[in-house]
Amino acid sequence: MKIVLLGYMASGKSTIGKVLASEINIPFIDLDHYIEGKENKTVSEIFKEDGEIYFRLQEHTHLKELLDNKEDFVLSLGGGTPCYANNMELIKKYENTLSFYLKASIKTLLNRLETQKDQRPLVANLSNDELKEYISKHLFERSYYYEQAAHNININDIEITRIVSKIQTYLG
Ligand code: S3P
Repeated sequence: MKIVLLGYMASGKSTIGKVLASEINIPFIDLDHYIEGKENKTVSEIFKEDGEIYFRLQEHTHLKELLDNKEDFVLSLGGGTPCYANNMELIKKYENTLSFYLKASIKTLLNRLETQKDQRPLVANLSNDELKEYISKHLFERSYYYEQAAHNININDIEITRIVSKIQTYLG
């Protein structure tokens, strides 16, 4: 079984993915880190030097490559991955793949992103006032894609171990 975690920036995809993967004893892959390894650059450098469109192309190519692979894994996507290049349709097509939307409120995301925006090129240059408006609009636009995940998992004020247990209840 391949498990795909998706959701907005700072919704905890990587943190939860790592714990889940070690609980069920399969490898963990973070798509951003995977792309960084292939390109030998950070995501911020790719955005700056090659542009967002190039990044979205790499994201799609590597996502497909991973889904085509026979290995099981827990994969955490980038926040934008489900929203480009028909990636959500692609994920839904694979029968051995189960997707989870880690659903966070604007308040939770704002609290987290205020202190974690530096490494994230889309929000790095926004003031905290601008950030709130940005997240509200952006999350609204992206929810259409995120909600297509097989399961929605509420993550607001919930401990990581409980979120992981909740996901495990869907794994059979
Ligand atoms: C992005 C989210 C980032 C990374 C890139 C673009 C987005 O991943 O893929 O900066 O479009 O939301 P995280 O969700 O891990 O921050």
